[in-house]
Amino acid sequence: MCLVAEIYLDNSATTRPFDEVIELHSRIQKENYGNPSSSHARGVAAEKLLNESRRSIALLLKCREEEIYFTSGGTEANNLALKGAAYRRRRRGNHIITTQIEHPSVLNCCRKLEEEGFKVTFLPVDRQGYIDLDQLSRALRNETILVSTIHVNNEIGTIQPVEKIGALIKSRNPQTLYHVDGVQSFAKIPAAVHRWQADLYSCSAHKIHGPKGAGALWVRKGVTLQPLFQGGDQERALRPGTENTAAVAGFGLAARLSVAHMEESAAQLYRLKEKLCRGLHKAGVEFYVNGPPPEEAAPHIINLSFPGIKAEVLLRILEEEDIYASPGSACHSRRPDPSHVLAAIGLDEEKLSGSLRFSFSTFNNEGEIDRVVERIASGVRELRMLAGTD
Ligand SMILES: Cc1ncc(COP(=O)(O)O)c(C=O)c1O
Repeated sequence: MCLVAEIYLDNSATTRPFDEVIELHSRIQKENYGNPSSSHARGVAAEKLLNESRRSIALLLKCREEEIYFTSGGTEANNLALKGAAYRRRRRGNHIITTQIEHPSVLNCCRKLEEEGFKVTFLPVDRQGYIDLDQLSRALRNETILVSTIHVNNEIGTIQPVEKIGALIKSRNPQTLYHVDGVQSFAKIPAAVHRWQADLYSCSAHKIHGPKGAGALWVRKGVTLQPLFQGGDQERALRPGTENTAAVAGFGLAARLSVAHMEESAAQLYRLKEKLCRGLHKAGVEFYVNGPPPEEAAPHIINLSFPGIKAEVLLRILEEEDIYASPGSACHSRRPDPSHVLAAIGLDEEKLSGSLRFSFSTFNNEGEIDRVVERIASGVRELRMLAGTD
């Protein structure tokens, strides 16, 4: 019997944890189960784990340790950034700017804030997913309290010009806060929160081979947010609740491991994307790249449309061979409505319904891409024959 290994190409949705992270996580659950708030030795040992992880994340963001607040993940970090800033600054103004291609944890947060009386501008993007700085400039008003943009888009990989965005915002009003959703960029491409003139930055462990259930919000010193929960003093009372020590420690380790090989990993992922595109070309498969050219997008994401093919059907064909990718983004995969990101970049109906996202990690290799190309090529051929369009 020939056992074929699975090929996991859905790393924007989540990543397989590093073995070292799994070992650390389970060792902490077994041996270091203290509550970091307890004053006895078990508590102190648990607190040390949190602080080590805080140091690792801070080192990566080139910020102070005390500016890092652990959360349960990216969604919570984004909610804390947006609502925490909006509620605290309500008296200064009620206008918020974001983009049409944010993750739902930002978009729906903004919609909730609209229901509560805030005014939100959702900036459009061009065909590659970039915002227009002139449009941002026109949208900024005296009462704009917060601008929130995604750094790397989770569906098409567009890298927003965060440095230019930050400079523009601060040149207009240094009091306007700038939040960057870095969930898809953290430890994958360099971060420089101070150079970007950002005030808030969100990240998440499970996107970088860490455990689920941990994330962080960087809050620039001097910026105050309103906590979303009331409780104890954990995370300096901004995010009360007993910390998920094992997941937070795993987050720190995953960040250290990822950043140690960030450049080689990025080069490897760009090679894999290029190999996929070249392979599909060579196999005569008709496809379009959605978003920026692959070499301009984030290293790990590529979104392709196969005209005349339904994404769900092609995904099922791939899944029969243990190849896992995703239509649009994982958040849409169980819902029939098309991706808001692909709609915002102006894809027509045919490209929308035939779009697949492939997202890579350092665990992928070139041999896997050969198998994926073969299976896509044969799958597309079969579907075209069935449809009589071959
Ligand atoms: C850009 C972006 N922001 C936020 C999130 C939410 O992060 P989490 O899954 O850790 O809640 C995701 C997850 O896909 C994301 O891609």
